[in-house]
Amino acid sequence: MNLLPSTLLLPQQTVAKAGAVLGLTQAAAAFGMRGLLVYGRSLQRSGMLDAILSEPPFGMSVRTWCHAGGEPTVGAVDALREELRENRPDWVAAVGGGSVIDLAKAAAGLANAPENTAFYQTNGAAIPPAALPLIAAPATAGTGSEVTVVAVLTDPARNLKQSIRHPSYMPKLVLLDPCLLKSCPPATVAAAGLDAFVQAFESYTSRLATPFTRALSELALVRIAHALLPLYRGNSDAAAEMLEASTLAGVALSHARLGVIHGLAHPLGVRFHAAHGLVCACCLPACLAFNRPAIQRDLDDLKARHGLKVEALVNAWVGAMTLENPFAGGTVADRDAFIRETLASGSTAANPRPVTPEDVSALLDAVLARP
Ligand SMILES: [Fe+2]
Repeated sequence: MNLLPSTLLLPQQTVAKAGAVLGLTQAAAAFGMRGLLVYGRSLQRSGMLDAILSEPPFGMSVRTWCHAGGEPTVGAVDALREELRENRPDWVAAVGGGSVIDLAKAAAGLANAPENTAFYQTNGAAIPPAALPLIAAPATAGTGSEVTVVAVLTDPARNLKQSIRHPSYMPKLVLLDPCLLKSCPPATVAAAGLDAFVQAFESYTSRLATPFTRALSELALVRIAHALLPLYRGNSDAAAEMLEASTLAGVALSHARLGVIHGLAHPLGVRFHAAHGLVCACCLPACLAFNRPAIQRDLDDLKARHGLKVEALVNAWVGAMTLENPFAGGTVADRDAFIRETLASGSTAANPRPVTPEDVSALLDAVLARP
């Protein structure tokens, strides 16, 4: 078996240290003197936005764009693309959670594309290479979007949550600065951290995993298991560990894909409007039971090597972080469409056990029946 994925795609440069984000404009000068910085509201509230923009290199102009919040929609990407077409920056930077990074990634990628964003979200549409270089600085420890070529977008009009991707969407420069996590509220720490943990776990057990990705996934699992609850409880010493671990999980999933938890999570998320990480956590027990025949050895290995009991840990977190099940008592009216979407997902295709339409229906029942 090859140690590496057939193609290894990583950012050109990653700077991991406290205060790294304060060097953003200096580093961005390598891409040009006109920039656009996309950010989330908490960055402004915390004062970090002003700090980042306080001393740009002489002659640099940086416009800013505040993400309105929530998961990025195709309409939000269209609006940002319009700004890019009008003002023609040399580079785009995203400082925020996964939603901010995905919004900026999609808009920088499609800045010069002829069609609207929804067109490219449709299966089979050819995605053009990225128009502008992207700098990414995550302000949550979760999606790992800073090291992937994927932007996950929703289209409320079509009730669709689907990613667009292109190898050129990989950020050129990544700034991993634990100081950015200071303004992250506990509910966001919980949802993002659960997403990172499930991503580490699904990439670990994926049928496309390689020794390279499994090593990263395993390291991420152990570190997140150690650091998530302390960070949730306000221990900022855990921020660097969580940030590095979620980035490692991002590198792993980018090359090994995920599994049926993420296959279910997108169609569930768009129907129940729940935080993605929480959706993943609520899907984990049923999917883990379904996959158990194919992954028992992995579960045994994690327990033997690290004392890590995956299902018990996630259940303990959901209790300790007072998270409510967003599906309890809910129903999915369009079950056939739901099953089709789950089976069409690249995540489901990477699941360690093959998934049939009947399996998806049974998993959906189990997730909705969870108290
Ligand atoms: Fe995820």
